[in-house]
Amino acid sequence: MSKQRILSGMRPTGRLHIGHLFGALSNWAALQDEYDCFYMIADWHALMSEWKNPGPIRHNTLDNVADWIACGLDPDRSTIFVQSDVPQHCELHLILSTITPVSWLERCPTYKEQLQALSEKDVRNYAFLGYPVLQASDILIYKATTVPVGEDQVAHLELTREIVRRFNSTYGEVFPEPKPKLTKSARVLGLDGRKMSKSYDNAIDLADTPEDTETKVKSMFTDPQRQRLKDPGRPEICNVHSYYQVFAPELVRTVAEECRTASRGCTDCKAALAGIVNGYLSGMREKRREILAAPDTLHDILKAGAGHAAETANETLVDVRRALEWKERW
Ligand code: TRP
Ligand code: SF4
Repeated sequence: MSKQRILSGMRPTGRLHIGHLFGALSNWAALQDEYDCFYMIADWHALMSEWKNPGPIRHNTLDNVADWIACGLDPDRSTIFVQSDVPQHCELHLILSTITPVSWLERCPTYKEQLQALSEKDVRNYAFLGYPVLQASDILIYKATTVPVGEDQVAHLELTREIVRRFNSTYGEVFPEPKPKLTKSARVLGLDGRKMSKSYDNAIDLADTPEDTETKVKSMFTDPQRQRLKDPGRPEICNVHSYYQVFAPELVRTVAEECRTASRGCTDCKAALAGIVNGYLSGMREKRREILAAPDTLHDILKAGAGHAAETANETLVDVRRALEWKERW
């Protein structure tokens, strides 16, 4: 039996951080043998919010792909590509736009949220309203059946499924209904305990230097009731402790025990964690440097990825045009 197909993507709006690593990338990497994986840099989706200042998208694209590969995405096993290198997404986007009622898009909970959250960026444009339609095209142009995403994308997936049902019932069965595959891995919170995000300035970037990382870990909040070394701590409410769960699960019990009995101080606890985080990330950081030092190789990877993606996309477009009783070519 042939493998099920996966598609997922990320918008290149900045550097990647350990939230992306544990929230998405390690999961994506683990799926590469079992599935036929397509992993895409969603640069057109980035443009929808970054249109006033699109320059950094290009740099972020290459920087993010370097991180992807450093984190274990393997161009020999997965198709790694940039959305705008495969213009077929646009044709499908237009066709799907025609069958998508505006009311479905206006109703989408993420749309209303993002309008508020991104108020300084001005996303009251036509493209941004259609964000989930382009996302549906990304998935359906490869007839992907499985989409690894976070909780925040589930509404978009539901919209994709509605679009599929409407397409198939209008023109005949062309697309499978894709399902979200939620990441089950541990969630790393930001340094301040909120969601990790570049805009909150609370992230440990994959590309940080060991010194940056150390400074950041030292700035983390601990149990606020623990004023003196002899006060017993409450590891269950301490974010430093939760980082141990992610980076060094084998140490968690000892850390918790020593914290509760006040035989471990917060300064030492954080210094040790910084060392562990740096040790964990050092191989990736090294690989990332190597990849960025050889930009030609990186370009070749993206070119090959786009070539393979385009072939698959063209096959789908043939099916789509046929279903609409449209020309294949004059
Ligand atoms: N909207 C996704 C995000 O912001 C990125 C994305 C674009 C995507 N196209 C996709 C995710 C297709 C999954 C499938 O994270
Ligand atoms: Fe947190 Fe460690 Fe301090 Fe306990 S000892 S409160 S786990 S930093």
